[in-house]
Amino acid sequence: MIRVGINGYGTIGKRVADAVRAQPDMAVVGVAKTRPNHEAQTAIRNGFDLYAAIEERKPRFGEAGIKLAGDVDELVDASDVVVDACPSGVGAQNADMYREHDTPALLQGGESADVVDSSFNARANYDTVEGDDLVRVVSCNTTGLSRLVAPLRERYGIEKVRATLVRRGGDPAQTGRGPINDILPNPVSLPSHHGPDVNTIFPELAIDTLGLKVPATLMHTHSVNVTLESEPAAAEVRALLADERRTFVIPEWLGIDGAGAIKELAQDAGRPRADVWENCIWGESISMEGRDLYLFQAIHQESDVVPENVDAIRAVLGTTSQAESVATTDEAMGLDEPLA
Ligand SMILES: NC(=O)c1ccc[n+]([C@@H]2O[C@H](COP(=O)([O-])OP(=O)(O)OC[C@H]3O[C@@H](n4cnc5c(N)ncnc54)[C@H](OP(=O)(O)O)[C@@H]3O)[C@@H](O)[C@H]2O)c1
Repeated sequence: MIRVGINGYGTIGKRVADAVRAQPDMAVVGVAKTRPNHEAQTAIRNGFDLYAAIEERKPRFGEAGIKLAGDVDELVDASDVVVDACPSGVGAQNADMYREHDTPALLQGGESADVVDSSFNARANYDTVEGDDLVRVVSCNTTGLSRLVAPLRERYGIEKVRATLVRRGGDPAQTGRGPINDILPNPVSLPSHHGPDVNTIFPELAIDTLGLKVPATLMHTHSVNVTLESEPAAAEVRALLADERRTFVIPEWLGIDGAGAIKELAQDAGRPRADVWENCIWGESISMEGRDLYLFQAIHQESDVVPENVDAIRAVLGTTSQAESVATTDEAMGLDEPLA
């Protein structure tokens, strides 16, 4: 069994912890937090050993009646690999600790590509990260774009990607985020950071991205134009994307008109936390104009990177092939059960 520590038990960390625990070849050593809040309570309720991330704050856990298993150092030491799901920038601060313990670590998309050895997407570059000390599982948006780009590039070749990312203002629990009643070009200057981030996965890809932020919490929506090197029929592209493991082509008959309905579908399907791990591409939006492909896709920011983290664990340790890892991850999480 691969022993996995989770440092940072928030939106991403708690989902990764559950996904890792579901795997037949992995065990969660424990999770680390800085303070005893409702997420610490969730960790205890779910039976995870809790470690203190900050020495001086340890007494607070005792005052809240929460028993600690140890310090984060001990968690790192006892782990074969650590998933760092701390807030953006904290992962980079933790890098020295992982190096000192000689424990490979997976950082998340909020960290700069400069602080890691490699950036990871299971569909695109699984085989490139084995043996690295620090690997970055790219952000939700970059994951969504990479899953789309990989099969298109392999089958048709890509001349240029242009994507406009309509981004949720914050996650449902992020009460301090916004906008509340506005539509922000964000960043207002071009390109947004997402294109260069996709280039950490596909270095040669020509891609321009623009970003906006809107008063929504459910999902991001991408409006995508890809100029291909050949001219397939829209139906052919649709079949290609429907065949991918982590893209769900939404059939028209479902009557899904937006992110709310997608989340409702996931909830009704019994998905944990109503998570939508796959890219959701509106089938009828897949259109070809000459060599230009157009489509809309929705990306669940809280969960699409979760299976990617699980695969990155096997990839960095070199325990299995890409195909085997992805199949195992999907089956253990229930991602092989299509949403419809
Ligand atoms: N949410 C998303 O949409 C999303 C999507 C893809 C990637 N990401 C990336 O994933 C990373 C985590 O994001 P998130 O949304 O999960 O953040 P989050 O919900 O704020 O969770 C981070 C957790 O880390 C804990 N923490 C803070 N400082 C820590 C430290 N020094 N050591 C250990 N734990 C610490 C925080 O809890 P306590 O302080 O209470 O312990 C918090 O619960 C970021 O890089 C982010 O950019 C986020």
